[in-house]
Amino acid sequence: MTSTGKHRVDLHLNGEPVSATVDNTSTLVDVLRDEFGAKGVRAGCRNGDCGTCTALVGGDCVKTCLILAGRASGYDVRTIEGLGTAENPSAVQQAFMECYSFQCGFCLPGMILSATGLLERVPEPTEAEIRDALSGNLCRCTGYENFVRGVQRASQIMKEHGPDTATDAGPERR
Ligand code: FES
Ligand code: FES
Repeated sequence: MTSTGKHRVDLHLNGEPVSATVDNTSTLVDVLRDEFGAKGVRAGCRNGDCGTCTALVGGDCVKTCLILAGRASGYDVRTIEGLGTAENPSAVQQAFMECYSFQCGFCLPGMILSATGLLERVPEPTEAEIRDALSGNLCRCTGYENFVRGVQRASQIMKEHGPDTATDAGPERR
């Protein structure tokens, strides 16, 4: 950290090393979006309530509006940009499509990251564990039921096809 109110942030974003010099007060959500182009990390409430800004930081689900960017320095950070593609969706993305889990999709990146983080920790979660894992992600369109079914389906897909269907990068700290 420098006396000018700026400091350098170095992290691995979706497997690639990135760095930027940012204000000491910059939150991780803003640095991911504005410095590193990860626009799939959405800023909703900026208050820790909605979960649209969720990313995996060192394998943990983190609401990136709540932490300063410097706290993520040295970590692997994963966002929706590091998961599947339209042609090759991750297990969670595939399952959410199969189960019609979402409507407008605003909450979707955060939901996918929370579900991915859960399934990496607990490959076969109970319904209670799924509901608990998604409890920090608000959805104004759905009744959450199809998100729960989607996570159950993703667990099944991962069991049949292996964990690599969920994500490309591991949650290691560097
Ligand atoms: S923007 Fe971070 S929890 Fe809503
Ligand atoms: S699908 Fe619209 S907010 Fe969740």
